[in-house]
Amino acid sequence: MGPPPAALLPERCTVGVGPQPGLLRRLLVDPRPVLDELRDAHGPIVGLGPGPMRLAVVGDPVALRELFSMPVERFRWGHRFNVLEFVVGPTSLLVSDGADWERRRGALRSGFTRRRLNGWVDAIVQAADARISTLLEETGPEPTVVDLEPFGRALVQEIVVRSLFGARLAARSSEIAGLLRRAQDYLESPALRQLPHPFPVGRRAAVRDDLRRLREIVAEQIDHLRAHPADDPLDLLGTLVAEGDLSDDEISDQVVTLMGAGLDTTSATLSWMLRCCALAGPELWTRLRVEADEVLDGTGPYDATHLARLDLADRAVRETTRLHPAGSFTPRQAVVDMTVGGHRIPAGTMVLWSSHLAGRDPQVWDDPLRFDPDRYLDVPDDRRTLTELAWVPFGRGPRNCIGFALAQMELTLIVARLAQRVDLGAATTEEPRAVGMVINRPEGGATVRIAPAPDRGSDVTAAG
Ligand code: HEM
Repeated sequence: MGPPPAALLPERCTVGVGPQPGLLRRLLVDPRPVLDELRDAHGPIVGLGPGPMRLAVVGDPVALRELFSMPVERFRWGHRFNVLEFVVGPTSLLVSDGADWERRRGALRSGFTRRRLNGWVDAIVQAADARISTLLEETGPEPTVVDLEPFGRALVQEIVVRSLFGARLAARSSEIAGLLRRAQDYLESPALRQLPHPFPVGRRAAVRDDLRRLREIVAEQIDHLRAHPADDPLDLLGTLVAEGDLSDDEISDQVVTLMGAGLDTTSATLSWMLRCCALAGPELWTRLRVEADEVLDGTGPYDATHLARLDLADRAVRETTRLHPAGSFTPRQAVVDMTVGGHRIPAGTMVLWSSHLAGRDPQVWDDPLRFDPDRYLDVPDDRRTLTELAWVPFGRGPRNCIGFALAQMELTLIVARLAQRVDLGAATTEEPRAVGMVINRPEGGATVRIAPAPDRGSDVTAAG
């Protein structure tokens, strides 16, 4: 028998309310520097705070494997600190546990199978093309410094709305996403401003109004689908209504959840990817273009076989999410006493597992802060497992991101298509600062220098 596990808390409570009272507040406002400080001072597993406010930060890749392979019943997502419920509703997957979570996840799973997602490849390329054409009309033939965040956001909105509702509501994607916008901004506001109140005034009331209107649209769609079952195989809501065993309220909560979880995460990642590619210099962009020209060669429709050949674009996505995961840490509450990475974590502790820390672990990644999509080529065998364990921007195990394949597909196809049609350069030589409490995004959005790619900026079919 090995030595007894070290108790993480309270014995290993190396930082707490005493010496650093502002630490928790800072962690909730600007988490990344605090996570880095904690790792530098105490290592990748740290206990924080006393009694009912106990936290454990876990960023060690091997400990994360342990955490992700534990039965989900050992954790709770519907805990009282989960502020998401106000936006996504009480039956949302994000705040569900036990048998309810299993049933709801099972109903959604069929919508996110690879086979089904593969049907979206061509639709995503087409949506990207249309938006790139509009962008280039607006920016004109000369090199221009522009923030591509609104472009990326509108495109991701269109794809998510299309994947949830089929083609029916594609034209209303900005209205639908707009109704969620205020709610997402609200979740980024300081925790104290988010205290529940029932009064019909203030930001919380405005968010409640927006969400009510959004749910009315979803309810209309559910009624419509009950009367006229969807014949669009890409329509997730149609599938939930026709096949699932979820009530209408449950369906509505899942739709708001998927939009909430799928929009800002993906568009912030796209912003990071464009900033990183621009800063990496023209060679990477040229290589992305050569690859995309070979694969998206004007002979569509495109499918999963094309997607699978966009290897460099896929690695650019992988590298972006390693360095800049949309969520720097993700909370779950321990329901029972447990041991993680040799540390004892008592029941009740909020476990904040951190993809930011794992993705920058200097024991795993050479020169961890360098953006290098080629680092995944020829990884030595003795490093392979560790790098796999340390790449967790979408989580792992049964509660991993259900939209992982969709996000990866969107980002890969968008960057490939952009590389074909647009020249990209950095607007400044400075690395952007990461901002955002819930969603990690670059300060200044996706501000880059662009111009139409010579000879084909406005004519996709000329590629290749
Ligand atoms: C770059 C984009 C994305 C990132 C980095 C990301 C990240 C994550 C992470 C880390 C989790 C795990 C949370 C945990 O362990 O508690 C998660 C869960 C989830 N994600 Fe994503 N996500 C992304 C895009 C999407 C998209 C496109 C959708 C859907 C359209 C989506 C829907 C969800 C849902 C519903 C869950 C909850 C799963 C459950 O609790 O069973 N995400 N995501």
